[in-house]
This record gives sequence, C-alpha cells and structure tokens, in this order.
Amino acid sequence: MSVPAENVPPHVAIIMDGNGRWAKQRGLPRIEGHRRGVETVRNVTFAARDLGVRMLTLYAFSIENWKRPPEEVGALMGLLEYYLKKELDTFVRDRVRFRTIGRTEELPAGVQKHLRTTIEETKCFTDYTLVLALNYGSRAEIVDAARAYAAAVAAGKEKLNDGSWSTFSRYLYTADMPDPDLVIRTSGEKRISNFLSLQAAYAEFVFTPVLWPDFGKDDLSAAIADYNRRERRFGQTSEQVVAPAKAHRK
Ligand code: FPP
Repeated sequence: MSVPAENVPPHVAIIMDGNGRWAKQRGLPRIEGHRRGVETVRNVTFAARDLGVRMLTLYAFSIENWKRPPEEVGALMGLLEYYLKKELDTFVRDRVRFRTIGRTEELPAGVQKHLRTTIEETKCFTDYTLVLALNYGSRAEIVDAARAYAAAVAAGKEKLNDGSWSTFSRYLYTADMPDPDLVIRTSGEKRISNFLSLQAAYAEFVFTPVLWPDFGKDDLSAAIADYNRRERRFGQTSEQVVAPAKAHRK
C-alpha cells in the first residue's frame, strides 16, 4: 500500500502493546514477547521512514512499568541495553537521529551510558528522528515542567503573567518536538495510558487489534490510510477546513 507523500503524518507515536499476550498465546514466557517486540521496533523504525514519516515516538517503558515483577523489569532493561548497542551502527549508517523523552536519569547506569552515546553520535541527522519514551509518564512530565517553569519565574527568566501554552510547553520533555499527528495503539486496548496527553490534544487515534510483535509495515500503512480519511479541524468548522479561503471571506 503506498501513500502520497503529502498525506503522510509527519509525527507518528505508537503505544506498543500486546507483547505479553503474544507470548501467552504461544505458551512462551512474557520476555519472549518483549524480545519479538524489539524486532518489531527495528522493523517499524525503518518502515515508518520508508513511508515518509519524519518522526516516530515509541512508548517503550512507562513510569508505571516499574510496578511489573522485578525479573520482567530487569529483562526489559537488558533488552533496551542490547538494542541500543546493536542499533547504533545502523542509526549512523542510515542517518537516524535518536533521542528520548522521560526521566532517563532514573534508568540503570548501563542503559544511560548507551543512551548518551546513541544521542550524541546521531545528533547531526535531521531527516528522520526516532524518539523512545523511557520512564515516561505525562503526569510526571507536567510536574517536571511546572517545577522548571516555577524555578524560571523565581529566577526572573520568565514572567508569570506572560504564561501561555507556547511558553509553558518549552518546559516539557518534548520542547523542541512537533506534536504527534497520529497516535496508534496496538493490541485492541483503547486507552492513552499517560502517554503524550497534552501533545496529543489534536492527534488522530488509531486502535488496531494487532499485537505489537505482529505489527508490520502493512499495519502502519493501514493506520496512515485511516488517518487520511479523517478531517482534522483543530477546533474550526468543517467548512473552514475544506474551503479556508471561502470561509475566511464570510
Ligand atoms: C507492552 O506489552 C509493551 C511494553 C511493556 C513496552 C514495549 C516494550 C518493548 C517493545 C520491548 C523493549 C523495547 C525496546 C525499544 C528495547 P505488554 O507486556 O503490556 O503486553 P500485554 O498487555 O499483552 O501483557
């Protein structure tokens, strides 16, 4: 399935869900589902770029995920470190900029070291960016932003009365990122789960029953096709969006 370049959402964000169920359906331990999930991360990263997406944000580890059994958390951290080690050369060769959002300073030291290296080595690339949300939660992000904003006001760097969304949003982890245009959640669940709540205010949502380890380029293309059937109005009327010049003359 091919999509005309002008109809491709520039920023796609994905809530990767269903690794555990994928494994359970096959009588495998949950970690096998996560292992297959990492393969999907690799495939979808390049599928999105091939389709013309400019930024892909993947919800890889939420703040709430610490509540999982310690052996699963440990395995996820191990997979993350393995993934970063393995992907660095590919990112550099294929010019993928890598970055993160979330409280990464609370991740294990080994993971942090590889994150720093990967971010540093890929920071000059501009065409395509992969963002991993790690130890991320929207509520924590807002708390962190409010603290940083209050500190800036106290230091005289911001004026409280000038407070606007464009000012405040500069204190979010996503300060220099565009908002997501399309948010996809796999596995049939229909929740946002504390992911980019503010940034997705005007995003289109696609929920697919496909479990994350089975998600592929065709599923991504189908989600983009669904996105293209929507009319994004950003608070305006349908007439204004469809015929902006005419609506303006009224
Ligand atoms: C949800 O599946 C998935 C996650 C916990 C996050 C996604 C993690 C990966 C794809 C693997 C690690 C990623 C990287 C980039 C190294 P689930 O376990 O909640 O599935 P379930 O709802 O079926 O139990």
